[in-house]
Amino acid sequence: MKLLDGVNLAALFFALVPSSSAADPCSTISTSLSAGANVYKLNSTGYNLAIEHWLLSSIEEPQCVVEPSNAADIGVILKTVAVTRTPFAVKGGGHTSNKGFSSTTGVHISLAQFNYTKLDTAAQTVAIGAGTRWISAYTTLNGTGFNVVGGRNPSVGVAGFTLGGGYSWKTNAHGLAIDNLLQVNIVLPNGTATLASATQNKDLFFALKGGFNNFGVVTEFVFRAIPQDLVWGGHLSYAASDITKVNAAVAAFEQQNTDTRAAIVSGITGLPGPNGTFAQPIAAVQLFYDGPVVPEGMFADFFAIPTVSNNWGGPITFLAWSGKDGGVSSLRGVFHAFSTLPHTPEFLQDVVDEVSAFGAELGPKSAAYLSVAIEPFMSGALNTPASSSSAYPPVRSPVLLPSNIFFGYTDASQDATFHSAVARIQANIVAKARARGLIYPESQGGSIYANYALGGTDGAHVVDFYGEEHLAKLRCVREEVDPHGVMRLAGGWKI
Ligand SMILES: Cc1cc2nc3c(=O)[nH]c(=O)nc-3n(C[C@H](O)[C@H](O)[C@H](O)COP(=O)(O)OP(=O)(O)OC[C@H]3O[C@@H](n4cnc5c(N)ncnc54)[C@H](O)[C@@H]3O)c2cc1C
Ligand SMILES: *[C@@H]1O[C@H](CO)[C@@H](O)[C@H](O)[C@H]1NC(C)=O
Ligand SMILES: *[C@@H]1O[C@H](CO)[C@@H](O)[C@H](O)[C@H]1NC(C)=O
Ligand SMILES: *[C@@H]1O[C@H](CO)[C@@H](O)[C@H](O)[C@H]1NC(C)=O
Ligand SMILES: *[C@@H]1O[C@H](CO)[C@@H](O)[C@H](O)[C@H]1NC(C)=O
Ligand SMILES: *[C@@H]1O[C@H](CO)[C@@H](O)[C@H](O)[C@H]1NC(C)=O
Repeated sequence: MKLLDGVNLAALFFALVPSSSAADPCSTISTSLSAGANVYKLNSTGYNLAIEHWLLSSIEEPQCVVEPSNAADIGVILKTVAVTRTPFAVKGGGHTSNKGFSSTTGVHISLAQFNYTKLDTAAQTVAIGAGTRWISAYTTLNGTGFNVVGGRNPSVGVAGFTLGGGYSWKTNAHGLAIDNLLQVNIVLPNGTATLASATQNKDLFFALKGGFNNFGVVTEFVFRAIPQDLVWGGHLSYAASDITKVNAAVAAFEQQNTDTRAAIVSGITGLPGPNGTFAQPIAAVQLFYDGPVVPEGMFADFFAIPTVSNNWGGPITFLAWSGKDGGVSSLRGVFHAFSTLPHTPEFLQDVVDEVSAFGAELGPKSAAYLSVAIEPFMSGALNTPASSSSAYPPVRSPVLLPSNIFFGYTDASQDATFHSAVARIQANIVAKARARGLIYPESQGGSIYANYALGGTDGAHVVDFYGEEHLAKLRCVREEVDPHGVMRLAGGWKI
């Protein structure tokens, strides 16, 4: 039995729970959990760790944190919140920008005890617990010669990333994270533990590949293992005056690169300038090559432009490459998203102009970081076998390129300002993209990647992620596995 700084469950049962508190879901749950589970009270270390998020603005204070030790514990928790109609949250790595998606004022489920990565070299599979962050998975896999199609930023959670789709450094060669998913272990809303795969509970498997927390609490993901050699990579930043050249290099790379081992992400980034001004946007580019030898001339356009900072290097381990991406934020923030056909230099200039205009507006409101990420993928990146059909994306050809808009700021009194500002810049950018013929017909869906999208009434709609046809199928699966709407007690993208 664990004592930690939380509440020892047996002690809670025998000593602390007054009989009159039977209606309190935290007490009810605590009396039925296994010996290894924990319940943490407000302000304890375990509680504070469990509710942490990448953005301060995504945090809420739950009534208690429950830390299940096994699938049966999760079943107990789900049955209790169902009966008491208690709002709850399940958090993976806590990287959502939307408050209420993995936070709650009710019961917060921490998957801290589902934090493991198990490589099976014979079967060439990797089983990862739903409470794991990519950094832990990469640390475990480092030196084994194997890897998975996982997150680019190491502190992101395996769970939310994968349940939304998962764009990786390896996507050009291997598709999305969900395209490499072999099995998902889940506790259904009625408390039953089961699994979904291409051969068992096929419709549920389809739904989990993009459908987030609508179908239960996932406990484990089993991925295909992929051979991993040493890699090269670097983060390069450029002067604002060179952003046009960098954008030209990005568009040329998108058009010309045919090597599935090569990938880039370019951030059009505004940072605070002197005296309360906001500086002109700069380009911050990440270059990655998935192999120990980089072909001659690869990324030459990016090296030809003078850099302000550049940590390109190799050959290094994939783990060392992941470590180059800082993981921690102490900002408040909002995300939004749009997806387009391949970018043109003119459209990238539109984005620069928008970031610049919003910098002028939001600089005085405590803006700390305004960026639009450009994420090129190759036209064949999502050509996967039909057996890997998934809720997201509804369209695999053409490959729609996801962009993430991130506005970071510090002043809590400006939450509403930044929420509406990120909705406005997204609308402006989409209008400009449409005028340039870069928007694929919205009726098909796939115009927004859910993992980057803004929630709320002025945010994204689920049909934008899935399209009508996939959304209808998701709703059928939900009717079957969650007829009483238990998962609607948890926030997030509700179908
Ligand atoms: C710095 C940064 C870098 C990023 N880089 C990328 C990237 O390269 N590629 C990409 O595709 N995305 C990227 N993202 C977006 C990221 O994929 C999403 O924020 C994702 O939801 C994070 O997963 P999480 O587990 O950390 O999030 P959480 O906030 O913990 O969860 C997100 C959602 O998933 C649900 N969920 C979590 N665990 C479970 C579970 N066990 N069962 C059921 N539902 C669950 C939650 O309830 C919530 O609704 C990035 C985000 C950040 C902040
Ligand atoms: C939580 O702990 C901090 C520091 O120990 C203290 O300042 C704060 O008042 C506490 N909050 C609550 C709600 O107990
Ligand atoms: C998971 O376990 C690793 C050690 O294996 C630890 O460093 C990490 O903090 C844990 N992560 C979470 C989210 O609990
Ligand atoms: C990762 O593995 C390599 C061997 O491939 C080893 O040299 C290195 O020390 C490992 N890194 C860490 C952080 O364990
Ligand atoms: C910032 O303001 C101070 C005082 O008004 C002024 O002396 C300084 O030149 C300004 N700096 C810049 C870069 O504009
Ligand atoms: C729980 O739900 C699943 C899916 O609908 C169903 O197959 C199973 O029989 C249910 N279990 C119980 C105990 O009701």
